[in-house]
Amino acid sequence: MNPATSPSAAPVDPTATAAWGELEAHNIELTGSLREWFDADPRRAETFTHDAADLRVDLSKNLVTPRTRELLLQLAQEVGVEARRDAMFAGAHVNTTEDRAVLHTALRRPSGASPALEVDGQQIDADVQETLQRVYDFARSVRSGEWTGVTGKRIETVVNIGIGGSDLGPVMVYEALKPLAQDGLSARFLSNIDPTDAYETTRDLDPETTLVIVASKTFTTLETLTNARLVRQWLLTGLREQAGLTAEQEEEAVAKHFVAVSTALDEVEAFGIDPRNAFGFWNWVGGRYSVDSAIGTVLATVLGPEVFEELLAGFHAMDEHFAAAPAAQNVPLLMGLLNVWNVNFLEAETHAVLPYSQYLHRFPAYLQQLTMESNGKSVRWDGSLATTETGEVFWGEPGTNGQHAFYQLIHQGTRIVPADFIAFASPNHALADGEQDVHELFLANFFAQTKALAFGKTAEEVRAEGTEGPLVAAREFSGDRPTTSIMAPALTPSVLGQLIALYEHITFVQGVVWGINSFDQWGVELGKQLAKGLAGAVAGDEEAIAAEDASTAGLIRYYREHRRD
Ligand code: F6P
Repeated sequence: MNPATSPSAAPVDPTATAAWGELEAHNIELTGSLREWFDADPRRAETFTHDAADLRVDLSKNLVTPRTRELLLQLAQEVGVEARRDAMFAGAHVNTTEDRAVLHTALRRPSGASPALEVDGQQIDADVQETLQRVYDFARSVRSGEWTGVTGKRIETVVNIGIGGSDLGPVMVYEALKPLAQDGLSARFLSNIDPTDAYETTRDLDPETTLVIVASKTFTTLETLTNARLVRQWLLTGLREQAGLTAEQEEEAVAKHFVAVSTALDEVEAFGIDPRNAFGFWNWVGGRYSVDSAIGTVLATVLGPEVFEELLAGFHAMDEHFAAAPAAQNVPLLMGLLNVWNVNFLEAETHAVLPYSQYLHRFPAYLQQLTMESNGKSVRWDGSLATTETGEVFWGEPGTNGQHAFYQLIHQGTRIVPADFIAFASPNHALADGEQDVHELFLANFFAQTKALAFGKTAEEVRAEGTEGPLVAAREFSGDRPTTSIMAPALTPSVLGQLIALYEHITFVQGVVWGINSFDQWGVELGKQLAKGLAGAVAGDEEAIAAEDASTAGLIRYYREHRRD
């Protein structure tokens, strides 16, 4: 970024760039198919395959030619992606609407990184390391049994109470790395304000061996504070009933069973949690970018500080790649630009992420917040309207389950659904079915799907198998359905960190091209405000109900008539 340009100066309109016009013309002129492109260019796979840290990323089955890539890179140049990336890493206030730096990348800088990062007068590295060490000390004391519950029993379950970024990242990483949890220690996650969630999370837990982490960036989130109060009540009642806890011991019980993670330590104290048992982070970490901050305390505790360190190292490896790899080999940049191509030129409305790893079953849900809360915007960072379509809908499920559910539409539907396929060379658990290595069977599906999507099956090929008549068309596959294949040696903590950082940076690249601030989330505010305002009506205040629109009033009346406890 030109140092004279402030981060909130009007973004370059991508549709007004020379590259955009050329991409439009190129899209019209583009002929051929993936079959033809692969046949014509024996080096196509190589040309479009890149390494980023431990990830091998094959982009060759996307609907692009080397010319498309050249133009997309030109677009990135014209809108200033690299300059804004550098500004973000350096601590410029690229979160314009909240006037904040965006420094999740600083959370994973290694200890002793040089030169030290100072932003807005804060010694960022020193503060990050200090908090990390406090989190690790706490985690070690729980893991060793030194930290016990109020009755002296060892902690067996850590319940993380949080929602959005204070939940999705921790759950996803815990599920992905579950085999690394310490024996006798496990995590649970409570997020929804549906009372069922609090009930189900606690109903078979022993309060004497349960530790609660209340995780909330703001510490004002209705769901999290309500759940924290419910669990505090459950804990104190349980301890009274089964261990004879007295009223005088309640404060000590809360201190031994409740810790907090937040940027608002005053709110933590107001809630009744001892600030000495609280781990902070900073406003320059967005909620959906916070799993690598103290929000990961549950992970450091259950999986261990060493695992958390390895996770952070993975994030950092991808940050370094994004910051330094030349544009033509920069994987987050290329994948972000491909998404722009798919959305703005090929008119894709959604994007599937399909991990061939059962342990990554929460990865698509995690990515939904990361991508859609970041890029689901219609105005640009200077307040002007977006000039083109922005954030696509992200979704997905692990393969092979998805194959037997929704892949039909990806293969033969009328819509284009770009998809990322993710797989690992080594299984977490190698099992054999007789002579058959089951991981190989699993991977054969991974390889087969992208092949089928790219190259399809022609009518001639269908007929050659003996099919005739109208069935031929039903069994034909058009091919040319774009996919990216991401492989890594194994699902290790480092590789997981690399994958998360990869998608963070892809999201950033798309945001910059579209000129939107990927780091605010004003769109979630209205619903929150209205929910508060409806409390009286929901509780039965007839005047308040009558003041509502007819639909809302009708629904509330239905609730009032049918509620049974
Ligand atoms: O409602 C949206 C949101 O603000 C997310 O961005 C955030 O991750 C989530 O709520 C939870 O917020 P907090 O961590 O402050 O409780």
